[in-house]
Amino acid sequence: MRPLQKVEMDVFETMLARRSVRGYKAQDVDQVTTHILLEAAVRAPTAMHQEPWAFVIIQDRTLLSNLSDRAKPLFLADIKTQQDSAEHANHTMDVLSKPDFNIFYDAGTLILICGKTDAASFSADCWLAAENLMLAACAMGLGSCVIGCAIPVFNISEVKAMLGIPNEFSVVAPIILGFAEDETVMPNPRKPPVILTSLAAT
Ligand SMILES: Cc1cc2nc3c(=O)[nH]c(=O)nc-3n(C[C@H](O)[C@H](O)[C@H](O)COP(=O)(O)O)c2cc1C
Repeated sequence: MRPLQKVEMDVFETMLARRSVRGYKAQDVDQVTTHILLEAAVRAPTAMHQEPWAFVIIQDRTLLSNLSDRAKPLFLADIKTQQDSAEHANHTMDVLSKPDFNIFYDAGTLILICGKTDAASFSADCWLAAENLMLAACAMGLGSCVIGCAIPVFNISEVKAMLGIPNEFSVVAPIILGFAEDETVMPNPRKPPVILTSLAAT
């Protein structure tokens, strides 16, 4: 385990501070930091201790821009086949249809969390790892965002081969990372938790 960077926030403060960052500075994230984030990711709970995850790190803005261009029409086609709420789908289609829109928001780092598909709960395991990674990033002063609309492009055989992802893995969680352009943006609010039932022995 690498020496941990000193962070200013405790876990709960970090959960409250995390937000999806959609604008990044040109400054790159160094490799020591990305590796510390992976160590945080693999501390996540994992069904039957299978640890079915593996990671791809992409730090090439030209490649990311090309992948964004390939991802947009695929995701648009997916949306059109889904009976999503029309208002939400229309907004997403408008944004994705803009030629200059980069689905990775010009971030310099993308981490793909890939799951071994023969593992019992690979998807759940990978998403838990994703949250660990994003919270650790936040605690280290980095912004992050899940880019779910990129998932279809990363699961094309040719793209997987280009990125060295073996067939037995599926890309579950693409996460961009970088330094937030605007550090004054507040986290999004949440509805209060809906408690359906709260049972306690009397
Ligand atoms: C499975 C998943 C997929 C997502 N895909 C995208 C995406 O493609 N693009 C994007 O900008 N944000 C994406 N997000 C981020 C959500 O929009 C964001 O988490 C939500 O609006 C709440 O905002 P917050 O993260 O700032 O609290 C995704 C989040 C999740 C969990």
